[in-house]
Formats: sequence, structure tokens, C-alpha cells
Amino acid sequence: MSGSAQAPPSTTVQPHELPASVREAGLQNWIREPLDDAVDRRRRIIMPPAAAVLGTPASAYKDALLAEARKPDTIFMMGDNPALPKMPERPTLKDFFALRFSKIGAAHMMQSARIARENGLDETVITACLLHDIAIAGLLSANHGYWGAQMVAPYVNEEVAWAIQKHEALRYFPDESVGYTYPQAYIDYFGPDYQPPEYLRREHDLARKHRWYMSSRLLTINDIYSFDPNVVVDFDEFEDVVGRNFRQPEEGLGFDGSPVAHMWRTMIWPNNFL
Ligand SMILES: [Fe+2]
Ligand SMILES: [Fe+2]
Repeated sequence: MSGSAQAPPSTTVQPHELPASVREAGLQNWIREPLDDAVDRRRRIIMPPAAAVLGTPASAYKDALLAEARKPDTIFMMGDNPALPKMPERPTLKDFFALRFSKIGAAHMMQSARIARENGLDETVITACLLHDIAIAGLLSANHGYWGAQMVAPYVNEEVAWAIQKHEALRYFPDESVGYTYPQAYIDYFGPDYQPPEYLRREHDLARKHRWYMSSRLLTINDIYSFDPNVVVDFDEFEDVVGRNFRQPEEGLGFDGSPVAHMWRTMIWPNNFL
């Protein structure tokens, strides 16, 4: 407890306290004032990751944030960010769905998995649907199929990870033999003239010849593009499927020493400076 008669700290920085360069860049969003119940009263700077700001004006303001961090009683964010719910010591997949993944991302995956189940598909496809966009929901959007496949690879059957990786490419290419057409959502997202790059064409061509092609194709078919905010799906609906198809590490995701543990830790502490 501080013995001085300071006013209670606010949870947001007052814009007039910041240099104009920071203010103009909206960088106050990355500076966290101490909370009333904070152990100490230092401000914490969140340095946005390169992947989030490259190509945007915000990348030019990293220097300003570094300068802010040199001020007294100011440090970089490390460990628990009080703006995020605290994760259990040994987090499970369910904890990431509840406490880290974006609401819309989690709902999208659970709605897709529910449709796959209603369509009578096997648990490989249902599991792939439930996990297919975890990278978008909690880590990174670009190349999300590849990131997502890596994140789950130690914990699922190889075919589930393969289906997740390949959905990245397959979504762009129709397969009328099973009723999959180019998604209207992509015309809206990327414009009618968008052409997938050559490497995705190659990925698609190879995936089509693979013995697991249909698992990934079924994922794209059950990957629902129109998110319905009124449909509520509870993760517990998939408790049995997850129990049989996701090998939850005893130490918790992020702490099992697996080759992908750092990816899960990055979602636990996404604002760490290093
Ligand atoms: Fe996806
Ligand atoms: Fe999706």
C-alpha cells in the first residue's frame, strides 16, 4: 500500500498526459495504468507485436512507447495482464475457449462442430471443426490453418491436424462433386477479383490427391461462414469428443514442454514484451 495521498489510479491513461505523437497514434490503448488492487502502482506498457502493426501507422510509434517505458514507475507488461481473466495453473482446452479465444471465434468453431455432428460425421471431422480456427481466435490470422495445425498436432490424431492445415487452401477451391462452392463470404471479404496465390493452388492440388482429402473437405463444408450470434453452444457439448480426441497434457497446455507449448503460453500472456 502506498502511504501517499495519491488519487486512486484510473484504469486508462488520460490522453492529455501523453506526448502528442503517442496520442495521435492512439497508443494510449497500449499503456495500462495501475489498477486499484495492483500489487504495485507502476504503469505497464504493452508493446504490440510486429505481426500486429507491420504495414500500419502504428509500427512507427514503437519508439514513442519505448520512450514512455523509460519514465519512472513505468515498466513493460510481463505476466498476467489484469485486463485479461487469469488462467488456471494447468490450463485445459476448455479454459482457452472460455478465457482466451475471441467470443466470435469460439462460437464459430463450436457452431461448426455442432453442424458436423448433426450431419453425422465422424469424430475426426467434428474435432477438426471444433479446433480449425483456434489460431484466429487466439493467436494469428494469417496462415491460420498452418498455425492451428501445429498448435494441436501433439494432442490430436495426425489426420485432424492435417485436415486443419489443409482447410487453409481448400476453402478457396470448389469441389462440386460434394457440393462445395466458393464461399459468398470470401467475395464479400476479399472482393470478386481475388485470386489465391500460387502456393495455395499447389497445396490444394496436392491435398486433393491425399487419402485424407475428404476429412479436410468436410471441414470446409461444415465451416459455417454465417455466424449466428443468437445460437449459444456450450463447450461441454463436446466434452465426450474432446475426451476421446484431444490428449490434454497433465501439466497444462503451455507447460508440457512440447514443441508447441510456447504457442499456448503466448495466448496465456499475449502482451509479454518478450
Ligand atoms: Fe479457417
Ligand atoms: Fe472457420
